[in-house]
Amino acid sequence: MKVLITGAQGQLGFDCLRQFRKNPKIDPIGIDVADLDLTDFSLTEKYLRKCQPDVVVHCAAWTQVDLAEKNPEKVFLINAEATGNLARICQQIQAKLVYISTDYVFSGTGTSAREVDEPKEALSVYGKSKALGEEYVQRNSNRYFILRISGAFGIHGNNFVKTMLKLSQTKKEIYVVCDQIGSVTYTVDLARQIEQMIFTDRYGIYHVTNEGFLSWYDFAEEIFKQAHQKMVVHPISTEEYRKMVDNQAYRPLNSRLSKTSLVQAGFPLLPRWEDALSRFLKELKENE
Ligand SMILES: NC(=O)c1ccc[n+]([C@@H]2O[C@H](COP(=O)([O-])OP(=O)(O)OC[C@H]3O[C@@H](n4cnc5c(N)ncnc54)[C@H](OP(=O)(O)O)[C@@H]3O)[C@@H](O)[C@H]2O)c1
Repeated sequence: MKVLITGAQGQLGFDCLRQFRKNPKIDPIGIDVADLDLTDFSLTEKYLRKCQPDVVVHCAAWTQVDLAEKNPEKVFLINAEATGNLARICQQIQAKLVYISTDYVFSGTGTSAREVDEPKEALSVYGKSKALGEEYVQRNSNRYFILRISGAFGIHGNNFVKTMLKLSQTKKEIYVVCDQIGSVTYTVDLARQIEQMIFTDRYGIYHVTNEGFLSWYDFAEEIFKQAHQKMVVHPISTEEYRKMVDNQAYRPLNSRLSKTSLVQAGFPLLPRWEDALSRFLKELKENE
């Protein structure tokens, strides 16, 4: 199975490439913007027609949520239009498409876990662009997996865990938002899940995050505990945090995602987030 991974220099793309290379049934090819800028639609078409992948795992995206607010055109071009173009080509060459989406497609009202087919009402430019990307995927192809994830962390790139560990080198106390409740996703676990999914034709929309709901505050506390770092973490509301930091995009307060469709399709749940964190910290240590 020839699998093309976009965004292979990013957190998830890197782990997909690493994971798929271990599988003798997969011939993985990783590309990033230096190899192919996906916003060049005709070059993308030429590349895919030549490459003829059986599966495209589309991890490339504009992922800087706050910066996106000031760059909507660029963000929509890569996250939505380029995704739509990719979906159209995948349909023509009969490749399966895995599109990685986000909890930010939802507005996050209430406290219940969102089902995959609930209405999308993104609050931010990033969320809106990813939601439109989903729509294009559904419109242009019929062999797709849309995987909504949240709070990704992996070895290759920046993320919340690395930021907290860096802060612990210079600070004794920090303020962390405590009223955004959702999940986090270890990209190693997600890559393994994608590896299983692409051998099936159980297409659809799935929520794929590590198990358990938590706030960024809970996550920070657990990071310092597991990393044996002394840090006083003060819980702070999103409202208060917005007053402290400029140019913040709006984020959903309730990012709980239901795994019903995942379970019904017979896919396993990911391990709990505390377990994922401990394996990630181990991986970080081994890479030092
Ligand atoms: N990170 C999260 O917490 C999170 C949460 C929910 C969903 N997601 C989704 O999960 C997926 C993977 O996220 P990630 O954290 O692995 O992202 P990432 O680390 O930011 O990697 C994305 C990669 O895409 C590349 N890229 C950007 N524009 C491109 C273009 N025009 N053509 C080709 N490649 C381009 C980036 O290159 P440059 O770095 O040079 O721009 C980067 O290497 C994304 O679809 C994201 O929307 C992420």
